[in-house]
Amino acid sequence: MPQIPEKIHELTVGQLSARSGAAVSALHFYEAKGLISSRRTSGNQRRYSRDALRRVAFVRAAQRVGIPLATIRDALSELPEERTPNREDWARLSETWRSELDRRIHQLGRLRDHLTDCIGCGCLSLETCVLSNPDDVFGDRLTGSRLLPGSPTPPPGEDGPTP
Ligand code: FES
Repeated sequence: MPQIPEKIHELTVGQLSARSGAAVSALHFYEAKGLISSRRTSGNQRRYSRDALRRVAFVRAAQRVGIPLATIRDALSELPEERTPNREDWARLSETWRSELDRRIHQLGRLRDHLTDCIGCGCLSLETCVLSNPDDVFGDRLTGSRLLPGSPTPPPGEDGPTP
């Protein structure tokens, strides 16, 4: 990973890509989603502050654990003056995301445990197939899949999808 001399305060997109490990296209995407920002030179080229390195590292770390970009953007936007997240910010935010990760891990574990039933089947039934109905939207009405009995009831008048 190339080092950027300390005296350089702004990075080109290529430098940011090389230093962060994120593809240039990913950096453009992050910018389009409001996760990082740049200024434009007189030649209309992007320049990123050195803080962008930490923001990109933050975004990529959060993405690796499955946090949606919208959630990451919301977290970044809540920082005072949209400053770059520091160590304490990461510790606090990652703690709040833990329960969501635990929920997903639990759900993935259920999907993994029941995938065997689906291999070679192909029915994709909402009543019996955990892949078709992973959130078990009918579970609490005791119709359809009962793999996740704690799932919420669909709103009145909404029966959800039919098998
Ligand atoms: S595809 Fe038939 S049970 Fe999942």
